[in-house]
Order: sequence, then C-alpha cells, then structure tokens
Amino acid sequence: MKKTKTVCFVTAAACLLLGGPVAAKTVKVGVVLTFSGGAAEFGQQVERGMNLYLQQHGAELGEHEIELIKRDSKRPGGDVAKTAVRELITREGVDLLAGFIFSPNAIASAPLVTQGKVPMIIMNAGTAWIPQLSPYIARVSFTMWQAGQPMGQYAKAKLGCTTAASGYTDYPPGKDSIAAFKTGFEGAGGKVIDEIPMGGPREVPDFTPFFQRVKDAKPDCLYVFVPAGNHAAAMVKTFADLGLRDAGIKLIGPGDIMPDNKLQAMGDDALGMVTTFHYSADYDTPENRAFVKAWKEAYGQDTTPDFMGVAGWDGMAAIVHVIRTLDGNIDADKAMEALKGWSFASPRGPIHIDAETRDIVHDQHVQRVVRKGDRLAVEVMETIPQVKDPCKQLKIGKCGE
Ligand code: PHB
Repeated sequence: MKKTKTVCFVTAAACLLLGGPVAAKTVKVGVVLTFSGGAAEFGQQVERGMNLYLQQHGAELGEHEIELIKRDSKRPGGDVAKTAVRELITREGVDLLAGFIFSPNAIASAPLVTQGKVPMIIMNAGTAWIPQLSPYIARVSFTMWQAGQPMGQYAKAKLGCTTAASGYTDYPPGKDSIAAFKTGFEGAGGKVIDEIPMGGPREVPDFTPFFQRVKDAKPDCLYVFVPAGNHAAAMVKTFADLGLRDAGIKLIGPGDIMPDNKLQAMGDDALGMVTTFHYSADYDTPENRAFVKAWKEAYGQDTTPDFMGVAGWDGMAAIVHVIRTLDGNIDADKAMEALKGWSFASPRGPIHIDAETRDIVHDQHVQRVVRKGDRLAVEVMETIPQVKDPCKQLKIGKCGE
C-alpha cells in the first residue's frame, strides 16, 4: 500500500493559483545488503553512505518521503537475495530496489526486476555485464573492467613487468577482473603466466598454497582480485609473510585489495602495493574532504568511508534525483529515463550514468600506498579521466551479447 498525503504549506489562495495542493508521496525503497556474517561491514558501509546522504540532503525531497525496507542478503550465493527481492516486490510493493554487494545476488535478482518492472540501483556488485541482464538495472558503483584493464596496461608500461600471475576469488567479478587485467597487460605486450583460483567469496581461504605457487613461478607482478574486507587483509598479510614482497614481486590489483577501512590495520605489509581505482578517502578534493569529515562526525573519528560508503552516498543521490524528477510518482520506465545520463559531483570526482549502458562512468586513478608520518596514505600517480566500462566498449564475452 502506498501512502499518499495531500499537503499544502502555502495559503489556500496560493494553492489554487499554483494548480492545487502538493501530493506528498512515500517512496518505498527495498534495500538488499549483506548485514551479517563476515561481509557485514560491506552492508554497513553502504547503509552508512545512504543514511548520511539522506541526513544531509533529505530536505531536497520536499514533501516526499523515503521509506527504506531493509533485507539481509546474508551470503554471496544469490538465493537469499533473490527471495528477499521477490518478497520486496510482491509483498512490500517497493517502488525501487537498491544495494547489492555481491555480484551473484544482483545476477540472481535480475529476472525478478524485469518481471516486476522495479528499477534496481546497484551500489556495489561489479561484474561488468550485470546491467545487461535487465533494462531496469542502473549501476552507481564500478565495473571490474574499469580497474583491471588500465592496471594491465600500467603494469607493462610503467611498472616494468613483462610477466604476471593472477590470483582471483573464483566467482563472476573475480573472473571478470583477471580477464580485464589480461586484456590490458597482454595488449601492451606482457605475458600472463598463471591464473590461480583462490577459493570463493564466502570464506577467507588460507592464501599460502596459492602464493607459494606464485613465488615458485617468479612473475614480475602478481595481480590479485579478492573482495575488499577480510579477504583483502588476509591476502596482503600472506603476501608479505611468505616473502613475495621481499622477492621483488609487485602486488597489484583493483582498489578492492587496499580498502580505506582496512589500510591502517594492514600496516607496512601494504607498502608499495599499486592499484587502479575510483576512490580513496585520501583524495584531496573539496567534495571528498567534506564527505570524510561528515562521515567521521556521524560515525566516529576512528571510522573511514571506503568505496562502498561512497557508492551508498551516490546511490542515494541517484534515488533522490529520481524522486525529484518524477515528483514522487515512481514509474519504472520514467525512472530509468531519469537515471540515464544523470551526473553528480561525487566524493570520488565527477560521475555520470552512461545513457546507453546504464553503467557508471568515472575517473580511474593509479595509486600506491605510502607512509605519511604515523599513518598509511594513498598517493595518486596517474589519472585516467571518465572511463566507460571497457568490457562493453570492446564487446568482450557476455558484454558483447
Ligand atoms: C562483487 O561481488 O561484485 C564484489 C564484491 C566485493 C568487492 C568487489 C566486487 O570488493
């Protein structure tokens, strides 16, 4: 049941003059995030970003309101998320869906949003071809190819790597990420000598056997994709403990392997790592400084937003944009039209939704971890402006369908 209030805050005469009272709508947004288990901190980041945006910009909704109906997708396998999405659409009658940390959760839910005609705003899941699964999907986060392919090019051209091995968490974004890296690296003249599946996204594996294999193969670079969070922290520790760093192998990857909220705890093990990414809390821009300051004021000085927090902020900005554009009357096709081409001054820099692919376009930065006084910091070495998803640009695999 949709709640409709009829209010008019100006005088009756002015109301008549303006064509009648304003119909205030409550827009129901189903939020599907991972709130429990080892990946609970991912859900918390996105949720905090969403809430912070509403706290600071909720007034832009005018008389309209947002009701967030939250569901825990629990694990990355897709089943729990799909059940939650079905229930949000059929029982709760949500106008919009948002969230989705793990790619399989977005992939499993895609047919339901097509059938139910409910726009889905993806705030993390990074497998490149996800928006192609439904005309009702738009993504504000990132694609694995936006980081992987430029990282491959940079590793050959600027890091002096001629051979590389890849290690990846064995599910869609991991496969996407190493394919992107290989395309960039081999396209620039390098050679990928090994590609090592390193377990799934649900449990953090012991990385020792995988990295021993890398150490024995002696590549110049090791490109790794693991989900941010506990996977990334354990991976960086094993890389250092096993002596790969001391053996001169360069650890590179998408920024998922050095998320801001894990960086200080990684300590000196993280030094020298090079990644390509669209966000760090250390970016020194007015928008990012204001965002990080507001985050720390809201959630504690010892907390740090990372790329998932920013995606929550930006995703909520997109939702507010849709509600304002449609004056609270959410129609799925009109909402998608409003999202296509939407641009925004994000804490990460300028972003927009590509009208053709409904995917995010943003700057990519090649960056490394350095020590600054008593803390680790992210230093940008190079910026590639306004990167569209290379997988869809090049029409590779499922991106070409
Ligand atoms: C994904 O499942 O798409 C995913 C999860 C965690 C990440 C990146 C991508 O850090």
